[in-house]
Order: sequence, then C-alpha cells, then structure tokens
Amino acid sequence: MEMVKEILFTEEDIKKKVKELGKQLTSDYKDKNLLLVGILKGAVPFMADLMRSIDLDLEYDFMDVTSYDGTTSLGEVRILKDISTKVEGKDILIVEDIIDTGLTLSYLTKIFQSREAKSVAISTLLSKPKRRKIDIHVKYIGYEIPDKFVVGYGMDYNEKFRALPYIGVLDEDALRK
Ligand code: IMP
Ligand code: MG
Repeated sequence: MEMVKEILFTEEDIKKKVKELGKQLTSDYKDKNLLLVGILKGAVPFMADLMRSIDLDLEYDFMDVTSYDGTTSLGEVRILKDISTKVEGKDILIVEDIIDTGLTLSYLTKIFQSREAKSVAISTLLSKPKRRKIDIHVKYIGYEIPDKFVVGYGMDYNEKFRALPYIGVLDEDALRK
C-alpha cells in the first residue's frame, strides 16, 4: 500500500500479541462473568481476534460513540448505538483499537460503572501515552506507540484503510498529492 510509509506491526506481530493478551485475559477472568464491549468501528478486527483467543465462556456486544467536538477537552461523548446485553453483575472489558486522549474511554468507564457492572476494565491494542488528556487506568495494552497517525487493522483515515491486515503509519505527503 503506497499510502503507508512505514509498517509498525505486521499481521504476524499482531497475531502474536493478541494471543498473549488472550492468554492473560483467560487467566484473569477465569472465575468471572466476562462481557467484551467492542467500540465500533475501529475495534472490530481486534475484537474478533481477541475473543477467539480467550478460552472462556464469554459474551460480547458492540457500542458506537462519537465525540461532540474533537477540539475541546470536555470529554463529551454521545452514544450512537448502545449495547443490548444486560450489564448488571457482568465483568466488562471495553475493547478499543487505540487510545489517544483517553476522553472516550474515561466517559465509557463512567457509563458502565453507573449501570452497576461488577467491574470495568479496558483493553486496547495501541496506546499513545504522550497524547493523554485524562489519566485513565488501562489494564491491557498491546503496544505503546509514539504520536504518529496510524491506519489498518480497524483504524482509519477518513474511513479508508481499515481493512489492512497490518498497522502502518500514513504518508501524509502522499495524501496531499
Ligand atoms: P480518544 O482516546 O478519546 O482521544 O480517541 C480514541 C479514538 O480516536 C480511537 O478509537 C480512534 O478512533 C481515534 N484515533 C486516535 N488516534 C488514531 C490514529 O492514529 N489512527 C486512527 N484513529 C485514531
Ligand atoms: Mg475508535
């Protein structure tokens, strides 16, 4: 793909990492009531791979959210599609593709706590720690990356590149051509 100037993680890298996370989750959630909540649309590939690497009788659902205004730091998030699964008594694991400012996840964590989930934790494939505006606890992180705009494996630039099986850095000069 000529728009991608650097491959950060190959399909093989991702597979290995997801297996590791799955193993850890299998052990951590052994005696729990696991409900995976994937955040649309970016988390779809990660969610699909992660759930199949967790050797437990789990449930999963999806949620779609949008930020009111990406430029403010209010953390206002609107729910476009909610989950239909009952939350009470469940151990929720939010599944995200990438955590940037942390505003989306800070909001989602509060929502699930207010709905009386038994526990709420976060897993993300990627994290950009330098960009954080809110200090949230992310228990399961695949990789920490520098402040670069990445695409692939669910992540997009204007809805493009989500279906790439690897994760790469977008060539912003090539986009302008
Ligand atoms: P935040 O943590 O609330 O700032 O937002 C995280 C969301 O921003 C992610 O779920 C992605 O949809 C999007 N995002 C942040 N960084 C990137 C990136 O490098 N590539 C693609 N999407 C990104
Ligand atoms: Mg997202």
